[in-house]
This record gives sequence, C-alpha cells and structure tokens, in this order.
Amino acid sequence: MSFLNCLVVGVANEHSIAWGCAKVLHEKGARVALTYLNEKTKTYVDPLAKAIDAPLFMPLDVQNPEEQEALFKEITAQWGRLDVLIHAVAFAPKEDLQGRVIDCSLEGFQTAMDISCHSLMRLTKAVEPLMKNGGSIMTMSYYGADKVIDNYNLMGPVKAALEASVRVLASELGAKGIRVNAISPGPMATRAASGLSHFDDLMAKVAAQAPTHMLTSLKQVGELAAYLASPQSSQITGQVIYIDGGYHIKG
Ligand SMILES: NC(=O)c1ccc[n+]([C@@H]2O[C@H](COP(=O)([O-])OP(=O)(O)OC[C@H]3O[C@@H](n4cnc5c(N)ncnc54)[C@H](O)[C@@H]3O)[C@@H](O)[C@H]2O)c1
Repeated sequence: MSFLNCLVVGVANEHSIAWGCAKVLHEKGARVALTYLNEKTKTYVDPLAKAIDAPLFMPLDVQNPEEQEALFKEITAQWGRLDVLIHAVAFAPKEDLQGRVIDCSLEGFQTAMDISCHSLMRLTKAVEPLMKNGGSIMTMSYYGADKVIDNYNLMGPVKAALEASVRVLASELGAKGIRVNAISPGPMATRAASGLSHFDDLMAKVAAQAPTHMLTSLKQVGELAAYLASPQSSQITGQVIYIDGGYHIKG
C-alpha cells in the first residue's frame, strides 16, 4: 500500500473506528492524513497523528467550508493526488437522538443529516478531482439503516440515507474508477456510541447472538478498510459491507 495517499476523517481518540482504519493503513505502508474536529479533540488526536507520522494533520469540522477548502488546498499542494478517503463521522443532538423519532426537531434532524450524510457528498466532491488514478471512498454505516434497532432512533433514517447516497455516488463516479462503499460494523464502544441509551445491552446481545459470538474489533474494521482501499477490491463498489460476526443475518 506504499503508493496510497489516504485521508481519514473522524478520529476523536484511540477508540475511534477511524483510528482503527488509519492505524492499519499506516502499518501497511500507506501515507495517512488525519483531521480533528476542534481544539479539544486535537489534544487526543495529536499523539495518534504522531504515532503514524501523519504528513498532514489539520482541523476539519465538516460544517465549516473554510476548513474544508484549506484542507484540500494543502492536500493538493503536498500530494497533488489522493487515493483513499475514509469518512467516519456522525453526530445527532442528544435531545433528538434519545427521544422518539416522531418527536425529533427539524433542526436536530437537519444537523444529523448534514454532519452524518451530506458531508460525505461534500467530501466526495472535493476528492473527485484529486482521485486522478481512481480511488476508494468509504463511510461507516450501521444495521439500524435497515432494521429498527432499539435506541438507535434518529440515526436509523440518517444511516439509510447514507447507504442510499453510497449507491448513487458509486454509480456517478464508477466511470472515473472511483469506488464508494459503506462498512457496517457491529456495535463498538466508542465515544459516539456512548450517546446511545442502553448501548451496553446492545453489545451484550450481539456478542451472545452473532454467529461468531464475538464483537467486532477496531483492527478487523481496519483490515477491511485496507482491503477496500486496495486494487484487490477493484470490482467492489456501491456496497454495504457488514462486519458484525454475521449478526444481521439473524434478522
Ligand atoms: N461505534 C459503533 O458501534 C458504530 C457502529 C457502526 C457504525 N458506526 C459509525 O462509525 C462512525 C465513527 O464513529 P465511532 O463509533 O468511531 O465514534 P467516534 O466518536 O470515535 O467518531 C465519530 C467522529 O465524528 C466526528 N464528528 C462529529 N461531528 C463532526 C463534525 N461536525 N465535523 C467533523 N467531524 C465530526 C467526531 O469528532 C468523531 O471523530 C460513525 O459514522 C458511526 O455512526 C459506529
């Protein structure tokens, strides 16, 4: 993978799924640029960026167009080409996330859709001209896109929109050799997941009922991301790839 230039968006700390991906890509020889949400997050992400010798480490709040522009200006100046984008970003306001979907506010829904879904379109548009030799774009989804999962609430419709977007983006960019896929991991104890009620119960249920009887690890998601980043997966696009020990097949 030594020839790959990768941008990983969504590292908040060492438990982040994005970090699992960045670490494995780095171990396999890729150059990995990281972003951080804000100054508070930077404190936690900075040592991780150092650990993988990230050649680029810049702020990116996906709701801030100036930061996005500055990031891609720098990527263009330093690399001139990008091969891989990993989008592992999600957010919903707590009051909207923890209530019934029927009761969620328009503002909360729009914020969740903007940060968790439309940001993929914005980043994809920004990387399109940089993926000169084709490329691989990945986002992170969850089973709640497809089935009603207790307490996933508002994020169910948001992830459904994300998965539909993956299919459309894959269709639009396929001719340029740019692939777009969603990885759908089983539940993992991250900061984003801590915002969901009764998340420990969900993890215990999955560990008990998944065919493998195991929870998914960061490294396993990273290995899948590395495969999707590589030319070995060149015929795979527009997919939602579950990495959940087979839990979703049990309905
Ligand atoms: N943890 C799970 O069980 C699980 C399962 C399936 C899918 N996912 C998905 O994986 C992705 C990563 O989440 P995670 O579980 O690693 O949690 P995490 O909290 O480590 O990562 C979420 C990231 O989103 C970033 N973010 C939030 N708002 C942002 C903004 N405005 N601009 C830029 N970044 C912003 C945060 O800074 C953080 O880095 C999310 O899309 C999540 O829905 C998580």
